[in-house]
Amino acid sequence: MKQTICILILLLFATSLKAENGHNLWLRNKSNNLVKIVCKKNSSTLDIAKEEIQRGWLGDANSTITLLVKQDKTIKGDGFKLNINNIQANTDLGILYGVYELLRRQQTGEPINTETENPSYERRILNHWDNLDGSIERGYAGLSIFWRKGNDAFTVTDADKQLWKEYARANASIGINGSVLNNVNASPDMLKKETLERVKAIAEILRPYGIKTYLSVKFSSPAMIGGLKTSDPLDPEVIKWWNAKVKEIYSIIPDFGGFLVKANSEGQPGPQDFGRTHADGANMLADALKPYNGIVMWRAFVYNANENDRAKQAYTEFMPLDGQFRDNVIIQVKNGPVDFQPREPFSPLFGAMKKTSVMPELQITQEYLGHSIHLVFLSTMWEEFLKSETYQEGPGSTVARCTDGSIFPQKHTAIAGVSNIGLDTNWCGHHFAQANWYAFGRLAWNDQLTSKQIADEWIKLTFNQTLSNNSKQPPFSSEWIANFLNPVEEMMLESREAAVNYMMPLGLHHIFAAEHHYGPGPWWAPKGIRKDWTPPYYHQASENGIGFDRTATGSNAVSQYHEPLNSQLADSKTCPEIYLLWFHHLPWDYKMQSGKTLWDEMGYHYDTGVQQVREFQKTWDKAEAYVDPQRFTEVQRKLREQSMNAQIWKDACLLYFQQFSKRPIPYDIERPVNDLDELMKNDMKRH
Ligand code: GCU
Repeated sequence: MKQTICILILLLFATSLKAENGHNLWLRNKSNNLVKIVCKKNSSTLDIAKEEIQRGWLGDANSTITLLVKQDKTIKGDGFKLNINNIQANTDLGILYGVYELLRRQQTGEPINTETENPSYERRILNHWDNLDGSIERGYAGLSIFWRKGNDAFTVTDADKQLWKEYARANASIGINGSVLNNVNASPDMLKKETLERVKAIAEILRPYGIKTYLSVKFSSPAMIGGLKTSDPLDPEVIKWWNAKVKEIYSIIPDFGGFLVKANSEGQPGPQDFGRTHADGANMLADALKPYNGIVMWRAFVYNANENDRAKQAYTEFMPLDGQFRDNVIIQVKNGPVDFQPREPFSPLFGAMKKTSVMPELQITQEYLGHSIHLVFLSTMWEEFLKSETYQEGPGSTVARCTDGSIFPQKHTAIAGVSNIGLDTNWCGHHFAQANWYAFGRLAWNDQLTSKQIADEWIKLTFNQTLSNNSKQPPFSSEWIANFLNPVEEMMLESREAAVNYMMPLGLHHIFAAEHHYGPGPWWAPKGIRKDWTPPYYHQASENGIGFDRTATGSNAVSQYHEPLNSQLADSKTCPEIYLLWFHHLPWDYKMQSGKTLWDEMGYHYDTGVQQVREFQKTWDKAEAYVDPQRFTEVQRKLREQSMNAQIWKDACLLYFQQFSKRPIPYDIERPVNDLDELMKNDMKRH
């Protein structure tokens, strides 16, 4: 009886929750509390800081808060000093970040002691893979918020400005301070006058929020739009063209951040087309940007269709160039050596170069992690990456410390995330994908944060119902914590491992269906296509076994890692099992640490992945009483689809690999419910 009453009260509570469409992200706080602000300086950034305090103050009513811009040596860059009613910073922007931190703590109930916070990376940048026609490469949340096609492509409307402002605010609230506005597969038209005028309009909105604009550029722009015969970086006319173009950009966007370049990669033009090196190309652009303090982010995502292991190529190409780059060049390296897979070891380029600045590139958009359909909290993947030991200078040389300037003082430090936002009302397609945008910003600000802390903050800010309703600091009830916060947090923290389990366990990688990279396609290998674009190149399954041999008997990619990691990875007995088939080709009856055969272990991983998603469905259904109906239903529907698709992953991979292993699927796991020939025909094309 008591239970029934409780359920009834909960249901009543649930139906009274106002529908939310997710547009307000983690910024749902509203307050009517009176607060007095003391601030001697004025600027548009400080105006925003004051407005935010008025809008969201959840501290004591009628308190006074002092904002003080004053130099302090313990405060670095955009950092700030904070206590319950004072924020001090070296810059106006530092004050704004301090305000967001204070408000966040008020909302999450975290203690506010006197402390100084300095960002881990100087530049915390979103990379938008947005095309000028409004489409987004690997975007799953609608069209671009910056670009569109049609007659009004270059008209700046009030609606544009409003959206850009909301975008800027969301970014600033989590510490992001840069946006690359267009796709790395860049159109040369990006540098045309009318496009640059729109960039100027965007930059004006982003500026007070401390966000610099950057552009991706096509290396062959001088020939394509400049009327020159060549784009050779050492050609005086080419140098002159870039100098003039850079001057033009700075004349309209004085705080322009610089260029991002994808060169000699996947068919993009680059300096090698003219017999020059990556350093020649990057330095030419860096010299043009130098007088204005601009930087070049030169991507290391390079690989050729040769017989060499793709995972080795970036290192092989860039290591010999260490020391040859200007100090305003940063080499932008994807977290893994192949391509944003559900799990990869870190790229050996981290912790390798000593005289060159290196920055990580993460992918927030879920190209290989279920698009905007699967609930996958990526923070745990990034945490694993940032905390990976490179051993560059012995133990403690984590990727984070090798890139944030702790180990080698870099002239510039930076981190980039490929954005997952578009015109969808909730920005990211999936309500939980907002957590990945949030997590990227938080980790870029503090690369030592734990995913648990980030998930905890995000859930409180995004789902706590008291925030949008009244102006009280939320007392999180133990009931809410036990029935909503804890289970949802657990689901988020487990979600990436679940995806690895049902997609690519034990170090398997790149076994996606062609092009769309959504569903499984371990069989996909049409005639005539580059081998390194096909799954069989990566899984190497045959009757003898499965996995890519990257030890000395194979490609020897292990040698690109420092000792003791090199030896640890090279031996299948000491290689962490999460990377086993990344580094080793092993027989189907290889004995795993669990005592099971490799084949059986694979079966259990696939099955566990499916079961995990089924559990996520239960967790979410049980949370219904605590979520407004719109967001509840939208997430519920996505979880159903994820569940069905996880099953497809499991069935496709196990049935396909079974043709080689010739062993039964372990009898104590659920049987496949799909047929392989059907799965191969459908290829999950609709995604
Ligand atoms: C992946 C992705 C491409 C993208 C490329 C890149 O290969 O599928 O769409 O252009 O990465 O990062 O340059």
